[in-house]
Amino acid sequence: MSTIREPVVIHKGLDNVYVKESKICYIDGEASKLFYRGYSIEELASHSTFEEASYLLIYGWLPTESQLDQFTRKLESNRAVEPRLLELLRKLPPKSDPMDVLRTAVSALGVYDPQPATDDLDARIDKALAILAKVPTIITAFQRLRTGSDPIPPTGHMTQAGEFLYMLTGHEPKPHDVHVMDVALILHAEHEMNASTFACTVTASTLADMYSVITSGIGTLRGPLHGGANEAALRTVLDVGDPSNAESYVVDALAHKKRIMGFGHRVYKTWDPRYLILKKLGEELAVKKEQTKLFDTALAIETSARRHLEGTPIFPNVDSYSGIVFHMLGIETDLFTPIFVMSRISGWTAHTIEYLEANRLIRPKALYVGKIGLPYPPIESRSGKPQE
Ligand code: ACO
Repeated sequence: MSTIREPVVIHKGLDNVYVKESKICYIDGEASKLFYRGYSIEELASHSTFEEASYLLIYGWLPTESQLDQFTRKLESNRAVEPRLLELLRKLPPKSDPMDVLRTAVSALGVYDPQPATDDLDARIDKALAILAKVPTIITAFQRLRTGSDPIPPTGHMTQAGEFLYMLTGHEPKPHDVHVMDVALILHAEHEMNASTFACTVTASTLADMYSVITSGIGTLRGPLHGGANEAALRTVLDVGDPSNAESYVVDALAHKKRIMGFGHRVYKTWDPRYLILKKLGEELAVKKEQTKLFDTALAIETSARRHLEGTPIFPNVDSYSGIVFHMLGIETDLFTPIFVMSRISGWTAHTIEYLEANRLIRPKALYVGKIGLPYPPIESRSGKPQE
């Protein structure tokens, strides 16, 4: 019997497929522009905080002083994690990847919540904010446990960026370090319908709870084609080691058709505006931390790669300097993608809520190209191989 074929177009990778209208994020990849709710990323990075940007993304407007105060208190009061979650973290193998730990821990938060599911959109936001507040606590607790130290509880009065840096070491972080971390969180908070945001949207469209939604996002961000490029970019800079080695590294990599990590983007065909902001912060930080050789090596790789890739739409992206910035802040390389989660939950939540306001179960189709109506063979006469 013949296969059923429909006259359809297959959108592999869903390139250029729109799944909803949105007022959250606008990217112009040809003009190096990124806006959250209409505000440019440059304005937000200069004047806003991660808390303010998160409020903007989730609720749709910049908060008044009292709205921001209430929002910040909500995060502060949710920052601590319960002892049984810390017990769970203690039981996980210390060699676990922190993204696997984070995925497990956020999922466990749902198990510990006596009422994880709710249809009320405000209650959904509250659950997402509780998770957002706890993620720095979970990441830093695991980091300390795997290095033989006890977790440090949150102070309860610092920002997402400040608490994270504080709980890593137990020392009051320097204001400039907090500022750099805060800007990095703003830059990573949202980026339209990327793979992890789509995964969250698919899960939310089934009316699953927010723990399931955010766990889906973490699992999707985990893959090296999405999160993780900044780790690879940093490793490249550390391996190259010195600005004088940059040119030979780039020539060799391109000759062997290897990708320069931190370069290229599906949407940006010119400078990624987030890259420009992080590069400037990285330069300042390198001077303050006396790590100019690291920065200069990254710069030499960038300059050489741009020269060899001239005429192509392959430009540096946000990941070319984010890993270097986190490294200079003293953060372990495998915590970079968890930091991405610590920020992107805001974007995931904003899109999830926007989608649920007019929900429709996401259920695409696959074009069946196999056979149908085959006779069912007895076990002794099966070939044990794929059908011809
Ligand atoms: N270095 C060298 N060549 C590159 C690079 C790069 N970083 N990126 C793309 N190219 C080349 C490809 O080899 C390909 O060349 P070909 O046509 O001769 O085969 C061409 O550009 C097109 O590549 P695609 O993978 O089709 O382009 P796409 O737009 O889908 O790629 C991607 C985007 C996956 C990000 C890619 O640029 C890449 O792998 N970059 C390195 C990893 C990275 O930095 N990722 C972070 C992205 S930012 C973020 O996710 C937060």
